[in-house]
Amino acid sequence: MIVLGIESSCDETAAAVVRDGYELLSNIVFSSMDLHAVYGGVVPEIAARSHIESIIPVIEQALEQAFPALSTDEQWSQIDAIAVTYGAGLGGSLLVGVMTARTLSVTKNKPLYAINHVEAHVYANFLTKTELEGYTLPLKSPEFPVLALIVSGGHSQLAYFRDHFDYDLLGQTRDDAIGEAFDKIAKITGLPYPGGPSIAKAAENGDDLMYKLPKARLDKKYEFSFSGLKTAVLRLAQEQIGEDYTFPSFELPARLSEFQKNDIAASFQRVAIETVVDKAVLAYEEFQPKSVVIAGGVAANQELRRQLSARIPIDIQYTDIKLCTDNGAMIATLGCYKAMNNQATADPYSLQIEPNLSM
Ligand code: KG4
Ligand code: ZN
Repeated sequence: MIVLGIESSCDETAAAVVRDGYELLSNIVFSSMDLHAVYGGVVPEIAARSHIESIIPVIEQALEQAFPALSTDEQWSQIDAIAVTYGAGLGGSLLVGVMTARTLSVTKNKPLYAINHVEAHVYANFLTKTELEGYTLPLKSPEFPVLALIVSGGHSQLAYFRDHFDYDLLGQTRDDAIGEAFDKIAKITGLPYPGGPSIAKAAENGDDLMYKLPKARLDKKYEFSFSGLKTAVLRLAQEQIGEDYTFPSFELPARLSEFQKNDIAASFQRVAIETVVDKAVLAYEEFQPKSVVIAGGVAANQELRRQLSARIPIDIQYTDIKLCTDNGAMIATLGCYKAMNNQATADPYSLQIEPNLSM
């Protein structure tokens, strides 16, 4: 079973080819991140326009990387099905991927699978084999039951998978996603967008015990909240330069020293990561899963991997950082499992986007 996966829910235009749900044949990601960096966050219209320009070249490159010796027609004859993200995400961005996949499904006569972006993040962990250079993949696929911690720019979720397509959502964020909090703290401290990698980098030079920051206490044990932590960091930064809460956040970067920025980044990162790891440990103890996986852009964070491995007593296999942030490989992988398990296909003449799709 060979599936072409197409992803366009946010600012990455991505396509990939996966065989049998574990072998990565190609993975092409074009990010419009540079175009958004000056605004400090993704601008939906710019993202959608960029998808329109790049989606066909990205798909062509994914086919070329997977089957370099074949003609275009021969490449397509290798593909058994197409999988595409139909939600959650930005409306205009999702439309480009879905309309492209629908058209290709009809013209190339391939079954179409509609993929939930958040579920697909988990499936990046099932890839264990590739001939492509520069990937470090897990030695084996996760074994069910699987506890999944999904942490990205749009999502913070804990899910318990009994099997493929049989899972419970244990809890999610009440307000901001953890990646969003990383992005906001980067803005407060004047670190470049996207915030996750730049906070992680600044944190390497900071003291993570310098500042005491709060962890949200919630009555539902598997829920997350990051808005209080975000406000606490803002107040802390204002305090550090001797100003009160009325001081505008956009003037903070110019007034904070390099040392203060690094210490804020390190202290924030420790607490934000501890917050999600605390919940993952709690869920591990309650459900005793065979495997634990992390997924989503924040799964690239080394501090998260370090804390999780230190506190959960099983061998956790982490996937390549390139497969944590948005990509087509995770879409193709989930597409493979849907096809191999006879899950319903989507109608290429009517599949609609669902920007607010949940797990
Ligand atoms: O999964 P993703 O590419 O897009 C969404 O579906 O949201 O995740 C992007 C998020 C951003 O908030 C980014 O700041 C964060 O992942 N991120 C990180 C790291 N790399 C990316 N956060 C913490 N540490 C990192 N190394
Ligand atoms: Zn994502």
